[in-house]
Amino acid sequence: MNEKNTNVSKTYLPDRQRYLSYVNQIFDSGWITNNGRLHQELETKLAQYLGVEHLVLTSNATIALQIAYELLDVKKEAITTPFSFVATTSSLLWKGISPVFADIERTTLNIDPEQINRNVNSNTDAIVPVHTYGNACDIEAIAFLSQKHGIPVIYDASHCFGITYKGASILKQGAISVISFHATKIFNTVEGGALIMNSKAMYERAKMLVDNGIKDKETIPVLGANAKMSEFHAAMGLCILEEIDAIVPPRKKVHDFYINRLQQLPGITFPTLHADCNRNYSYFPMLLPSEVVLKNVEEAMNRSNIYPRRYFYPALNTLPFVKQQQRLPVVEDLATRILCLPLYGGLSRAKQEEIITIIERYVTK
Ligand SMILES: Cc1ncc(COP(=O)(O)O)c(C=O)c1O
Repeated sequence: MNEKNTNVSKTYLPDRQRYLSYVNQIFDSGWITNNGRLHQELETKLAQYLGVEHLVLTSNATIALQIAYELLDVKKEAITTPFSFVATTSSLLWKGISPVFADIERTTLNIDPEQINRNVNSNTDAIVPVHTYGNACDIEAIAFLSQKHGIPVIYDASHCFGITYKGASILKQGAISVISFHATKIFNTVEGGALIMNSKAMYERAKMLVDNGIKDKETIPVLGANAKMSEFHAAMGLCILEEIDAIVPPRKKVHDFYINRLQQLPGITFPTLHADCNRNYSYFPMLLPSEVVLKNVEEAMNRSNIYPRRYFYPALNTLPFVKQQQRLPVVEDLATRILCLPLYGGLSRAKQEEIITIIERYVTK
């Protein structure tokens, strides 16, 4: 990676000696994967830290989503958001499930419950919303629809490390929530993720499913996959969990500086935060007045080695491998105008000034 570049995120790496002391433990034990000691320790500590009861670690969130669909017998169609990282949709397609897209709300950029309701039909097996950027969906409206139609909700909560909803972990919402611990996330295990569920029985099944459906040496009762987390990945998680209190405050500082300056500019808006949830400062999304302005801003930043990202573009309903093309006016407008600015602890004030100056140049013209 070019050190001159300012990217949208910077992977948090823990203290090197701390990590190496875990590596030494792994070498001493000779146990490098398959539900090892560090894996077990991380599972317990994360459940405690996040305030959830049943948490199953996985090798990434994409496979965790697929395991969730298997656990809930999702087979035909799932109503989901077109505004997300591609894995929300591709995980469905890999399981042979058709994504049916419900348009998003203009204010929050999360799935619109009214659009979910309009799309429910006899083939609908699940609702798969995303708490985009860690901002809570309209959880109550979605729970109402889930009950009304008898369809489970699987939350893609990939961005939700440390997010609470009405004072408790947001990961408790829905039948299952899935979180990502990818290197770009505020808490990372290099690659990794987890399934969180409220039922002990489902937890027991999930433990088998992530381990190829194996119950014991001679019993393989269910169809599973290899979704296990290795000891080296768990070690990274344990190190970062020990340092977690140092991660969010510097990000908040960067976020607050951007907000204070950018909210004064004409034509720039931000997604509205749900009143019942907090921020974890994972992303800094900003809506520009038009795609033309966005491209001008992006190109000018790139010329200065600054690389914001168009999270999330293109809208997932427009992907070439999605068979059932739907026209969705809100997402097709907003996805062309959204840009996530670099946000990480240690991003200098001078670099933020430079970023803001570039934006000012194009929106105040
Ligand atoms: C909303 C969303 N869903 C799913 C994923 C997939 O996560 P992973 O990279 O852990 O498979 C991501 C990853 O960034 C994401 O942002």
